[in-house]
Amino acid sequence: MKILVVGSGGREHALVWKLAQSPHARQMWCAPGNAGIGQERLAANGALVQCVPIGAEDLPGLLAFAREQKPDLTVVGPDNPLAMGIVDQFQAAGLRIWGPNQRAAQFEASKVFSQQFMEKYGIATARSGIFEEPAAASRFAAGLGGKCAVKADGLALGKGVLICRDMQQADAAIEEILVRRAFGEAGRRVVIQELLEGVEVSLHALCDGKTAKLFPDAQDHKRALDGDQGLNTGGMGTYSPTPFFGPGDAIVVVRQILEPWLKGCAAEGIDYRGILYPGLMLTRQGPKVLEFNARFGDPETQVYLPRLENDLVELMMACVEGTLAKVELKFNAMTAVCVIMASGGYPGKYEKGKVISGLEAVAAWPNTKVFHAGTALADGRVVTSGGRVLGVTAWGKDLPAAREAAYAAVERIRFDGAHYRRDIAAKALKNRE
Ligand code: AMP
Ligand code: GLY
Repeated sequence: MKILVVGSGGREHALVWKLAQSPHARQMWCAPGNAGIGQERLAANGALVQCVPIGAEDLPGLLAFAREQKPDLTVVGPDNPLAMGIVDQFQAAGLRIWGPNQRAAQFEASKVFSQQFMEKYGIATARSGIFEEPAAASRFAAGLGGKCAVKADGLALGKGVLICRDMQQADAAIEEILVRRAFGEAGRRVVIQELLEGVEVSLHALCDGKTAKLFPDAQDHKRALDGDQGLNTGGMGTYSPTPFFGPGDAIVVVRQILEPWLKGCAAEGIDYRGILYPGLMLTRQGPKVLEFNARFGDPETQVYLPRLENDLVELMMACVEGTLAKVELKFNAMTAVCVIMASGGYPGKYEKGKVISGLEAVAAWPNTKVFHAGTALADGRVVTSGGRVLGVTAWGKDLPAAREAAYAAVERIRFDGAHYRRDIAAKALKNRE
């Protein structure tokens, strides 16, 4: 099969790496890819994955490329092309593509849509209200004592959620989103949720329009600095599984979240094929959905795929063709840990073009894989080209082993200004004591 992967981050490197292991993959492109993706080889024939310089949001460019090269399967990594309707456009052109269509991608593209859907179909979530009017929004926040999450409706580069602990913060958040339009049109409406207390975990479920199959749990670390301090980022590290989510929780999630979600999709005529990634809070009253994403998490993918034993090409084909019910998902019993190495200054301003050393040495280590995110080639050397640069991933028999291996690799890799958290998975270790 010829496969085209859309995107350029660590998630896409992990997808390419896993897809390349499949005997079905005979030729692979990634648009636009990165320096690490361009070094991957297909297990079937040793061919290199080719990076093609077409942006993930350049839908006409991607479609023209696909019409010419005729991939048997296109796999979409990021949310924006999904929200822009890449799946609908490829399907209209008779091209097979993995990911939710534009209507289904609304679960991520519109928080108002998701919240209304959850309430209509009885999916466990936070108490909430939807507002266009600042005064009404403020009254609702006051009813929650100001303890709330104020969320811009639309996509806002992961920055459209403001956590408030009193009325002053809540009014400032409402002002910022609804009045000052800090996130533009994405902030024409807001969802205000009560603040939930508990441990936050990421879940993923593969879907084929009728069936949803749950992945194991993972946990991200969204803040830039140790101890969950500093600014929000795209994610600074993950591990899977976590000690916080037991088999009993999985049963509750299937019954109280996935089953009503599937019923709702059927009732509304939403044909969801791809992966659904709910962000969950494990509260004292049980798991509750904070938000839905319509794509793989980044860097959750980097810890899921080393544990996945199925052929990913076959899984994605089962989603597209509606045959997921026949598939059994298999994950190994290892723990995987991913530590993000970021550019100094990220998520604020940072410099690019720093030479990265140590990659060849670590490439020879067992049970370790460095997924590239913001990297590029300059004069034959790998240099930094983004905020999140590398997802240094290792797996082992348990969390201490995996964590030690991941940090050993991090210590071996260097670039000017490199910044990473030293406490990825520390909460889970504490929980074991
Ligand atoms: P979201 O993009 O909706 O997942 O929100 C971003 C982050 O804000 C989440 O990962 C949580 O850490 C936090 N958050 C969102 N909603 C809530 C809520 N209702 N209660 C507590 N924390 C929340
Ligand atoms: N792990 C955070 C995200 O993918 O949105």
